[in-house]
Amino acid sequence: MNLSLPFHVADGMIAGHRPMERHLRDVAAAFADQAAAANLAADNPLLYYVTMIDEHNGVGALHYALGVLLPGKVGAEYYMTKGHLHAWRPAAEVYIGLAGQGMMLLEHAETGECSTAPLAANTVVYVPGHMAHRTVNTGSEPLVYWGILSSDAGHDYGAVGERNFRQVVVEVDGQPVVMERADFLARLEAQR
Ligand SMILES: [Fe+2]
Repeated sequence: MNLSLPFHVADGMIAGHRPMERHLRDVAAAFADQAAAANLAADNPLLYYVTMIDEHNGVGALHYALGVLLPGKVGAEYYMTKGHLHAWRPAAEVYIGLAGQGMMLLEHAETGECSTAPLAANTVVYVPGHMAHRTVNTGSEPLVYWGILSSDAGHDYGAVGERNFRQVVVEVDGQPVVMERADFLARLEAQR
């Protein structure tokens, strides 16, 4: 059992572990601008990779994961993770930013209440239970972070996949702006 693992902030790699990769086609359905996503589908760029350390299990144990979300956009929408709820809804999580500039979108599973939190180097974010969470890179460098949570939390991608998040993070005049998805879709429609 490894109690200590060397990792590298620069590339977000953990010695001896292979990350899980997510390319555009894995995440395309989450982006609001489906025409922009379709345009990038052939290139299928790498959006993010996550190394999950889940070897410690049982009551009181923790899982932890090192995530690297690359900079880029699909249309005006910044690269982001698929987002998820925890299968055990009350399970909270702590994110620790190591490098880069971004934010987290949070949305309560039952009430639909939305909030955002900055996630960047030297920033820690507490994700309460029952909150769907998605990481967004609004900067020009990779966003690198740890996520630490109960080994019992589990991941539920299905609920977020069906409903998506109500808010999007898009570039407007060179700046990241949080916007209602419906309003962004209306803007896109008006531009066509
Ligand atoms: Fe999580």
